[in-house]
Amino acid sequence: MDIQEMKAVVIDRFGGTQNLRLADVPLPQPGPGQVRVHVAFAGVNPADWKDMEGLVAGFYEVSFPHILGFDAAGVVDAVGPGVSGFAPGDPVFTTSDHGDGLAGSWAEYLLVSAPRLALVPAGLDLASAAAVPIAALTANQALLAPQRGNLQAGQRVLIHGASGGVGSFAVQLAALAGARVATTCSAANLAYVGELGSELALDYRDPDFPQRLRDWSGEGLDLIVDAVGGDTLPERLQLLRRGGRLVSIATLVADGDVAAETAQARSMGREKIYAIMDADRAGEELAALGARIAAGELRLPPVQVIDLQDAVNAVELVRSGHVRGKLVLRVCGDGF
Ligand SMILES: NC(=O)c1ccc[n+]([C@@H]2O[C@H](COP(=O)([O-])OP(=O)(O)OC[C@H]3O[C@@H](n4cnc5c(N)ncnc54)[C@H](OP(=O)(O)O)[C@@H]3O)[C@@H](O)[C@H]2O)c1
Repeated sequence: MDIQEMKAVVIDRFGGTQNLRLADVPLPQPGPGQVRVHVAFAGVNPADWKDMEGLVAGFYEVSFPHILGFDAAGVVDAVGPGVSGFAPGDPVFTTSDHGDGLAGSWAEYLLVSAPRLALVPAGLDLASAAAVPIAALTANQALLAPQRGNLQAGQRVLIHGASGGVGSFAVQLAALAGARVATTCSAANLAYVGELGSELALDYRDPDFPQRLRDWSGEGLDLIVDAVGGDTLPERLQLLRRGGRLVSIATLVADGDVAAETAQARSMGREKIYAIMDADRAGEELAALGARIAAGELRLPPVQVIDLQDAVNAVELVRSGHVRGKLVLRVCGDGF
């Protein structure tokens, strides 16, 4: 049967969840360097509600109907000219390619640039794989990229917002790098982040948490990775040692005055880095993270699966800002 259309979750204008609809849209055809993925599961990220509301629109061209979704796992369905290393039937996971003006992953089929793709390793199911790309890549780059966290063994790092998608990977990756890890999360998640490798887990609703952090860090922290936003971590630059770094993950809603804080950090002999995940050639990095998960070195956070038809529910949940681990949407499921 020659398929011409596919189901996708789209919006026709920016706004609230009332604008989400399941639509029939044309099946995309892979061009040079592109792979078409038959999507089994699609990850849910805070970026999805921000995309829905138009907050990400400045970063890429948007045309309506606009398909949401930044993460996917599935099976290669077709490859465009010039693609090597992937063939129909391969299980893959990836970030979607909004940045090049392509559609999102909340659809039965996704076109993606081949350098973003990675093969799903044996032992990692597709629902779990869909939970990995954005969260794990963001955490990995924020902590370890030389121009970002450049974290070294023995250093002390704070992961602010440790129980969500990015945080759950960041705590583990920091501990695996040999760092000493402090975290913030709600009281209900203190034990969870401890299991992930946090030495000092602090409830952000405890007014004494900054002082407890200062007591723990001695001369000051080497690194802060902030996945929540400046207002929630008072005087965060003062928590760093001289020469220490603040890696502030772009939230688009709670970033404060980035230029002013960057200048303030410099004047204090600290460094602030505003971090946006680099996905253009992230396939190799994703493959390495997948291998660590398959080897049991890196644990998956809890993954809750929600049907594509219930995308509104998924968006409301992620917008609440208090999901432990990750949500994924069941698009076609893993029955093919
Ligand atoms: N720029 C990029 O490239 C990029 C990439 C990925 C993510 N992001 C952004 O990074 C942020 C985090 O993403 P995510 O996927 O990890 O989100 P998430 O899964 O929704 O997790 C958010 C976590 O923040 C915690 N939290 C809420 N308020 C807090 C506070 N005052 N102090 C400490 N922790 C608090 C929550 O913990 P409790 O449930 O325990 O309250 C929750 O687990 C989002 O704004 C997202 O858009 C940016």
